[in-house]
Amino acid sequence: MDAEKAHHLTIQILKKTEQFPFLIELLFGKPLQHASLEREVFGLNFPNPVGLAAGLDKNAEVVDAMAMLGFGFVEIGTVTPKPQPGNDKPRLFRLIKDEALINRMGFNNIGADLAAARLNNRKSDIIVGANIGKNKVTPNEDAVLDYEYCFKALFDSADYFVVNVSSPNTPGLRALQDREALTKILSSLQHINHGKPTSKPILLKIAPDLTESQLDEVAEVVASTEIQGIVATNTTIAREGLLTDKITVESIGAGGLSGKPLTNVSTKVISYLNAQLSSHNTQLKTIAVGGIMNAEDAIEKLNTGSPLIQLYSGFVYKGPQLIKDINRKLISN
Ligand SMILES: Cc1cc2nc3c(=O)[nH]c(=O)nc-3n(C[C@H](O)[C@H](O)[C@H](O)COP(=O)(O)O)c2cc1C
Repeated sequence: MDAEKAHHLTIQILKKTEQFPFLIELLFGKPLQHASLEREVFGLNFPNPVGLAAGLDKNAEVVDAMAMLGFGFVEIGTVTPKPQPGNDKPRLFRLIKDEALINRMGFNNIGADLAAARLNNRKSDIIVGANIGKNKVTPNEDAVLDYEYCFKALFDSADYFVVNVSSPNTPGLRALQDREALTKILSSLQHINHGKPTSKPILLKIAPDLTESQLDEVAEVVASTEIQGIVATNTTIAREGLLTDKITVESIGAGGLSGKPLTNVSTKVISYLNAQLSSHNTQLKTIAVGGIMNAEDAIEKLNTGSPLIQLYSGFVYKGPQLIKDINRKLISN
């Protein structure tokens, strides 16, 4: 089946089964609970460190089902101020031999207000992050207004926020990772945040394709704007070391690559960042994401110093069993 059709079908099935929790329990068993899995990060209490990465539940449709499947937290989005259809289809491709995906979805989503309303209707108390972005039609000079809009619209509905400036599928978006643009966005969100009775953790999501000097710059901005952390990494625009033949890869075209080929690339970025952040002597924490396909990959990511991890492609290829495998391994370690 076409990859995006399969995705929508899965969301629809999950939405239905959400109403019959015993069915999910019958199929996948109860989520693992154990004191050794619990983490307190960003002032939030996570029942386990394995989260769902942004992009799978863009519209907050299956947050409760994800809680039932055993995720310790869910990141919805990327959400933009206005709803938008995203790029033309096809825009999601499987590279089976590589256990990878290429996507150029382009922030297809229902918009911040509807997403907030959906989140307000959730039944479970699972920790939810809202990943926010800008509309395609918004020029970069005005991007800050889009981030502000989403932050305000979702403030009461989400537990933490992720500023996404790293998707390769919105033209020009990644230029917002530059010092000046980034400082403007993060400090304006912090200004709104500090005006609230209780502020919420803000994190920044970065691309794996940044050079070390760009990463240094990002770490400096994050430290100076005093946000709480970094989600690393998003998908890569690189196509190195793939098993899938070159002609097939070229025929797919532009998009972000995720899954197994990203494992080492993202680990390298996260290790470097964690070292940089500790040298800044901050309380900043990172969420590690990128190519976690099995429990060993998860342990490797956690060993870089990130207290939390997220899955996307691994969950698509391995299913909910992967969450259990990782948590079981963590308990036994
Ligand atoms: C189809 C698809 C859509 C995605 N959409 C988003 C998104 O909207 N926002 C975002 O921050 N990351 C998005 N991502 C990136 C993932 O959250 C994650 O950072 C990346 O896929 C690397 O993790 P993985 O190798 O476990 O898939 C998307 C990934 C995929 C495969």
